[in-house]
Amino acid sequence: MLDQWRTSVIKAYARSLGRRRGDLVTPALILDLDVAKQNLARMVDKMRPHSAKLRPHIKGQKCVELARMQVEAGAIGVCTATVWEAIVMTRAGIGDVLIANQVGGREKIQALAQMARQGRLTVAVDDERNCADLNAAAEAVGSQLEVLIEVDVGMGRGGVRRVEDALTLAPKISKMKNLRLRGLQAYEGHCMMEPDRALRIVKARKAADLVGEAIARLAKAGFACETISGGGTGTYEFTGTDPRYTELQAGSYLLMDMFHGKLVSGFSHALTVLATVVVQQGRTIVLDCGSKSICVDDAGTPMKPYPFYKARDFHEEHALFDVDNRCQLKLGDTVELIPGYAPSTVNMYDVYHVVENDVVTAIWPIIPRGPGHGGLLAGEKP
Ligand SMILES: Cc1ncc(COP(=O)(O)O)c(C=O)c1O
Repeated sequence: MLDQWRTSVIKAYARSLGRRRGDLVTPALILDLDVAKQNLARMVDKMRPHSAKLRPHIKGQKCVELARMQVEAGAIGVCTATVWEAIVMTRAGIGDVLIANQVGGREKIQALAQMARQGRLTVAVDDERNCADLNAAAEAVGSQLEVLIEVDVGMGRGGVRRVEDALTLAPKISKMKNLRLRGLQAYEGHCMMEPDRALRIVKARKAADLVGEAIARLAKAGFACETISGGGTGTYEFTGTDPRYTELQAGSYLLMDMFHGKLVSGFSHALTVLATVVVQQGRTIVLDCGSKSICVDDAGTPMKPYPFYKARDFHEEHALFDVDNRCQLKLGDTVELIPGYAPSTVNMYDVYHVVENDVVTAIWPIIPRGPGHGGLLAGEKP
């Protein structure tokens, strides 16, 4: 089923191959591969001197071709938000996948346990009952799941709230035959929301210190942590270079959007949405690209050639810009917009139009989208 989907969407968009980037049916999601490769090279280069290895988060990319590209460049594997993303990645041959969240629900746990027969799968845990469910599912199908105890380092989402709780959970996990405790998940997501870089450094350091305390106390209790995973694009320079972390989960650096562009410099926008001018009335132009085709952010969602225009509004199918005589666009022209937030933008499209030297050279499917799981439950054909 999954293979059929891939084949059918590639076929459905094949007419775009060989076209110039401005000459596509709009709205169209464009991935400038040349730029994405530069972003990847930059991240690999930046991380080279440090002990943490890159494990890119692919929840925003949702594309096996992009995952493979990063693994070929040296990433140790990928991390995902959902069990469905993990299944897609494992089936595509990514040998080391971390679900950087808790997985709940009988059939999802079964699907995860089943998939662990085909590749190394690790999942974040913070609760003994969830661990027992994972262990039972893995035992039922004869697989082994690896786990990271998530420590809440300030975001207040998943994760044990006190280091003592990690100390209580670790020995319980070690008694579960089909689970193996690998270390800690410690994602400092609250720091990504901190626009002030100096304050972000302070908060990230505080989070890492808490992780340091957990590592030390677990080691004292006989549980050595081989993996400490966390960090994102907004903290790669601090968390990713902190010797206490062994893995960096940054993923948005690859496509880069306006939100992450506020936080870090040196990465370029590889992802755009191509739109057409469908209305030109006085000073207003309207593009056929609204909130159902691009995700906005406070940092704006600018037209690439005219970064100084802020959209007046986004309706479901329309982007409204008030322009002046600097704008050369005419009715029927196309223009690229830089997404405010890439993960939610990507999630709305079937495929990337992959562009090299401004020409579409490939169509890459975006799977799995939204909460969709067709063909991914245990026992369903790939
Ligand atoms: C668990 C986890 N790790 C890492 C990230 C960082 O990803 P990004 O590089 O997109 O900021 C996220 C983002 O939501 C996340 O939820």
